[in-house]
Amino acid sequence: MKVTEKQWAAFFNEINPGFFDPDHDKRMQKDKPSSEMFLNLREFDENCYEKKFSENVTFGYLNKDHDELLAVVKKVMPIWVPFFDGRTNVYCGFVDGKIVSFCMVEDLGEHILVGERVNIGSPGCAGTLPEYRNRGIGLVMLRNATKILRDAKYDYSYIHHTYETEWLKKLGYEVVLCWDERGILWS
Ligand SMILES: CC(C)(COP(=O)(O)OP(=O)(O)OC[C@H]1O[C@@H](n2cnc3c(N)ncnc32)[C@H](O)[C@@H]1OP(=O)(O)O)[C@@H](O)C(=O)NCCC(=O)NCCS
Repeated sequence: MKVTEKQWAAFFNEINPGFFDPDHDKRMQKDKPSSEMFLNLREFDENCYEKKFSENVTFGYLNKDHDELLAVVKKVMPIWVPFFDGRTNVYCGFVDGKIVSFCMVEDLGEHILVGERVNIGSPGCAGTLPEYRNRGIGLVMLRNATKILRDAKYDYSYIHHTYETEWLKKLGYEVVLCWDERGILWS
């Protein structure tokens, strides 16, 4: 399916109504444009990124102490703490059973994209504790979360508001829109 920038923009507005209203809190983290990224899950290659870990590194849905998660999120990105309100599934990377990496796994519902009815899932707010970065833990976690969405029959995986485009491209995600506080930056 070929989706134009204009169609992505309409889709963005449907998922994030009022986002470019002047009083909307966009939580800009950097003085540079942010990106929206998509991955067609029918084209997702689950072997796109591999890393070998020792046995004490594990991955899975969080089903324990929410306070531990909040403390980790606070160390990685304090402005994300309110988003982790216990209502969304959280998938993690663990070292010795402790959370070192996390992301939300969200259902964004059914939408019409270029006349086609599609289900959208989103692995959002991904982060790794600074002392555990560059070991592959965050990307394997996000690869697994993407696989979960694919296996749950979502059509697209959507990542909202990211600066880490090169990192996410390693899993096949593509930038479909860039924007700043003033609005969409048309290419
Ligand atoms: C972005 C972030 C989640 C990366 O986590 P991480 O666990 O260090 O990432 P990984 O080690 O799994 O990255 C895997 C690979 O990408 C590389 N990489 C790490 N950070 C990268 C980045 N910012 N840009 C490009 N490549 C990156 C790693 O070196 C590694 O390389 P390899 O192919 O040789 O194995 C982490 O830096 C972070 O928490 N940042 C703050 C929160 C944030 O901005 N999140 C982005 C949400 S989309």
